[in-house]
Amino acid sequence: MASTTDYLLSVEGLTVSFDGFRAVDNLSFYVDNDEIRVIIGPNGAGKTTVLDLICGRTRATGGAVQFKGHDLLKMREDQIVHKGVGRKFQNPSIYDDLTVFENLELSAPGSYSVFGALAFKRTGAIIDRIEEIAEMIFLSDLLDQKAALLSHGQKQWLEIGMLLIQDPELLMLDEPVAGMSVAERKKTAELLNTITKGRSVLVVEHDMKFVEDIAHKVTVLHQGKILAEGSMDAVQANPKVIEVYLGH
Ligand SMILES: Nc1ncnc2c1ncn2[C@@H]1O[C@H](COP(=O)(O)OP(=O)(O)OP(=O)(O)O)[C@@H](O)[C@H]1O
Ligand SMILES: [Mg+2]
Repeated sequence: MASTTDYLLSVEGLTVSFDGFRAVDNLSFYVDNDEIRVIIGPNGAGKTTVLDLICGRTRATGGAVQFKGHDLLKMREDQIVHKGVGRKFQNPSIYDDLTVFENLELSAPGSYSVFGALAFKRTGAIIDRIEEIAEMIFLSDLLDQKAALLSHGQKQWLEIGMLLIQDPELLMLDEPVAGMSVAERKKTAELLNTITKGRSVLVVEHDMKFVEDIAHKVTVLHQGKILAEGSMDAVQANPKVIEVYLGH
């Protein structure tokens, strides 16, 4: 029998109450190595809150979150990042006045602050790594472009690149394709499908076509609890899921 230590991430009995309201209620799920897991569910189901709890932004009121033998609920946000958990928020936190190259450079391990990164001696290894990441995020031709001039979708990719350059073993993305064109969504799916060697991705998304393109497994949240979990096909055919979410 598989034990919970075989998973990259195990979430057990996770609970948070805000003034007595249980936004996440005794939630358990397990993410495998190299898995893309997608969390779906209606507005207010608790999806973003789950990511906030795992990355240490919100304090849980109960439960356990194990990642590679570490109990994340006992750690601060910066310690969790250090252990290899990267989190992308809905609004890109990139530096508009810097170029694509500089944004990636200041996120590269070894750069300790914006000023440190800019004063940092550019080694061949770092330049190679930046070029490799830029290729993955479709921005190779735009390395010298100021981030402010990128399209909305390109900004989202840049932020994913800024996380990837730190080589996280778990990458969490909250609605990464919101506001993207159909072509950009397709490329984002392609991107996620190429980065899962040695890494798992936990994605919150509403776009079902995109979910279909990436999900190994889908977890459906409703009122802070799991309504259903399984393959995209199984979840889409589940009458309870159709009733509370997909039928709308
Ligand atoms: N810090 C907080 N204080 C109080 N209530 C909160 C807090 N954070 C979230 N909530 C509440 O918890 C519930 C779940 O919110 P959450 O943002 O996780 O939903 P979601 O599934 O991400 O929804 P959406 O699809 O709209 O992004 C909501 O009712 C929200 O108002
Ligand atoms: Mg949300």
